[in-house]
Amino acid sequence: MSSALVTHTTIVEHPRLTVIGTGYLGATHAVCMALLGFEVLGVDVDEAKIELLKSGRVPFFEPGLEEKLAGALATGRLRFGTDLAEAAEWGDVHFICVGTPQSKDSDAADLTYVDLAFAEMASRITRRALLVGKSTVPIGTASRLTELVQRVSPAGAELELAWNPEFLREGYAVKDTLHPDRLVFGVESSWAERQLSAAFRPILDEGTPLVVADLATAELVKVAANSFLATKISFINAMAEVCEATGADVNLLATALGHDSRIGSRFLKPGLGFGGGCLPKDLRAFTHRAEELNVGQAVAFLREVDAINGRRRIRTVDLIAEVVGGDLRGVRVAALGAAFKPNSDDIRDAPALDVARMLHMAGALVTVYDPEAMHNARRSYPELAYADSLAEAVDGADVVALLTEWQEFREADPDFLGGLVAHRRIVDGRHALDAEEFRAKGWEFRALGRPANPRTVSLDGALAFA
Ligand code: UDX
Repeated sequence: MSSALVTHTTIVEHPRLTVIGTGYLGATHAVCMALLGFEVLGVDVDEAKIELLKSGRVPFFEPGLEEKLAGALATGRLRFGTDLAEAAEWGDVHFICVGTPQSKDSDAADLTYVDLAFAEMASRITRRALLVGKSTVPIGTASRLTELVQRVSPAGAELELAWNPEFLREGYAVKDTLHPDRLVFGVESSWAERQLSAAFRPILDEGTPLVVADLATAELVKVAANSFLATKISFINAMAEVCEATGADVNLLATALGHDSRIGSRFLKPGLGFGGGCLPKDLRAFTHRAEELNVGQAVAFLREVDAINGRRRIRTVDLIAEVVGGDLRGVRVAALGAAFKPNSDDIRDAPALDVARMLHMAGALVTVYDPEAMHNARRSYPELAYADSLAEAVDGADVVALLTEWQEFREADPDFLGGLVAHRRIVDGRHALDAEEFRAKGWEFRALGRPANPRTVSLDGALAFA
């Protein structure tokens, strides 16, 4: 009795960490935890990816991560491999970071990889350990997996499960991992809470807020947070639709709303809307799961949030058509941007490429340029034409469409661009450019939710976005 009690209350103060799945989330987590002083083993089934990471190269674009990877490898605390058995034997706390993409045939999340990773690890773990899910999953998954892992593991109930949702943004992955706004632990025992706290000690010691919750709440925090952010973006984009019908200016509206400290200006930027590997699919998977749980009505508005977001893409195509006189056939469009947002090479559900594809389908001659996402875009949309530089993309264009707000595009000189295009027409899909400056240089300048010929006000210093 007493020895069982000791086993149950003892934690490993400086746990050895494994990270299963070294994609965006896992690779960043592994690197950051090693930098924080832990010994870390990153494991993936993809041997090519592991070889790249071993040699100090990051298989995707994330500012600053490659330098951090080099630093972490140099400490000798970080290594990578493909052997799950070694990870199961070696680690005290195992973070599962595999993907949960949208299913091919429905809005539900595809849990194949998560289920497999938990089962494969559990069947190899023979001693007391903590399996921690970081992937975004439908509510109820952690509880189902707890039953599964304890059934298949030689360690039985000595193997516990926790959920620790991750909120990192692409482009800020390192900062968000090392200095998160908050940590959320979904746990079922005080042992799991203390063991997980030990694995996050340096971050907790910084004073990072910690919310300790049950498993279901921890799962819900992630999808609720992403749903809220998506709703905020779609709210301002819905207002843009109203602006278009009334001659009001959504930029001024967003600025004025953002000054209300209860609302705030973050995630209130109007434009082409959200994309990426998280917001759209999390929204849909959440709605799907809520319907399964008979609470579909509670989140039915999220379908509208998704629909508003989709309409922005169509409306952008319509605006480009309007600017060239209605018919897109044979019109040369310079599509600036392919990634779903700047500082990323991720093209999953990218609004920019969706617009480029629709323009192409309508008969336009589309040339795409993106500073980082060209390789991914070319592979997924071989039917589009690509340029190797901004200048090459706009050369001879009948209309320029800014679709992802990279700094390179924000800084582009209207005169320089004007010297290359066939017609000085631009549609700013991201509210990223200075309309006055372009108009002053003879450009026809259009943006969703802003009047074609503004009559009265412009952004003054006090109202401008910070
Ligand atoms: C998001 C969440 O922010 C993060 O917490 C979660 O872990 C993963 O999903 P990410 O997908 O990296 O992160 O992108 P984010 O910076 O949130 O932007 C999402 C999309 O919204 C982008 O397409 C962006 O262009 C768009 N967006 C963002 C707007 O259209 N307007 C805004 O005001 C803000």
